[in-house]
Amino acid sequence: MPARPSSSPRRPVGTVTRGTTNPNRLRRMDRWIAAVQGPVLRRSADPVAVDLGYGAAPWTAVELLRRLRAAEPRTEVVGVEIEPARVAAALPYEEDGLSFVHGGFEIPLPGPADGRRPLLIRAANVLRQYDESEVAAVWTRLRARLAPDGLLIDGTCDEIGRRHVWIALGKEGPRTVTFATRLGSLDRPSDLAERLPKALIHRNVPGEPVHAFLRDFDRAWAAAAPYASLGARQRWIRAVGSLAADWPLAGPAAGGGRSRWRQGEVTVEWRALAPNSDETDAFRGT
Ligand SMILES: C[S@@+](CC[C@H](N)C(=O)[O-])C[C@H]1O[C@@H](n2cnc3c(N)ncnc32)[C@H](O)[C@@H]1O
Repeated sequence: MPARPSSSPRRPVGTVTRGTTNPNRLRRMDRWIAAVQGPVLRRSADPVAVDLGYGAAPWTAVELLRRLRAAEPRTEVVGVEIEPARVAAALPYEEDGLSFVHGGFEIPLPGPADGRRPLLIRAANVLRQYDESEVAAVWTRLRARLAPDGLLIDGTCDEIGRRHVWIALGKEGPRTVTFATRLGSLDRPSDLAERLPKALIHRNVPGEPVHAFLRDFDRAWAAAAPYASLGARQRWIRAVGSLAADWPLAGPAAGGGRSRWRQGEVTVEWRALAPNSDETDAFRGT
């Protein structure tokens, strides 16, 4: 296992927040990440991924390692946590390919001092506890740490992982927004609104694109009601398919397409959901 980062004289960047987590909570996100970033991990000479803010117990990092190793067995996962006691609690769970370090948005990584760059930074249920005004600057900082083909995931989910929404960003800026749900638990797609990441949750109001998207999704879901007799999955696939007429849905290369719809997911281009009044380049992308 590579050497730990030498202790930095500077404080980790960020703020300690609630450490709530749960086993298997992030499985939907993990599966999507493995599908999208698996080929990138396989091509890399140094396939390293970060579980940023893994919380009071290290479950999500352990599970991320398992799921990414199924895609690329050389993958290494580093759990980065700003609360020192949570790092101490995680250390007994270190194993081949899995380490835990104390740090924040600066993303310290074990290994050579010349700096490794992660192919994935996954921040799940972390930025939701920050102010909306802080998000763009955090995105910019984290994107700058990524390897050239790296992916940043800023996502949110409920306690047991039935409902997720995550934003995927590359080094160039935000790319897509994915909505993922256990279909049997859904009354209507806008149930997912309460899990929107910080950059979008306050924009779920009339006049903002994400509000229009969820309104159209609810309408498409209602129109697809006759398919409910074939199961919620068929109803979802039908509703998502009809959304494609008006909304730019991502194709398979970006984590979309019919095979992902079958999982209870839909991935939309960020440009269609970006807030209207996004003052910053980080929200617009470049
Ligand atoms: C709600 S928990 C999320 C746990 C896990 N990711 C999950 O989704 O189940 C958020 C964790 O993020 C940590 N955190 C907040 N800001 C951070 C930062 N800047 N760097 C590293 N960890 C951070 C908090 O200390 C907390 O343990």
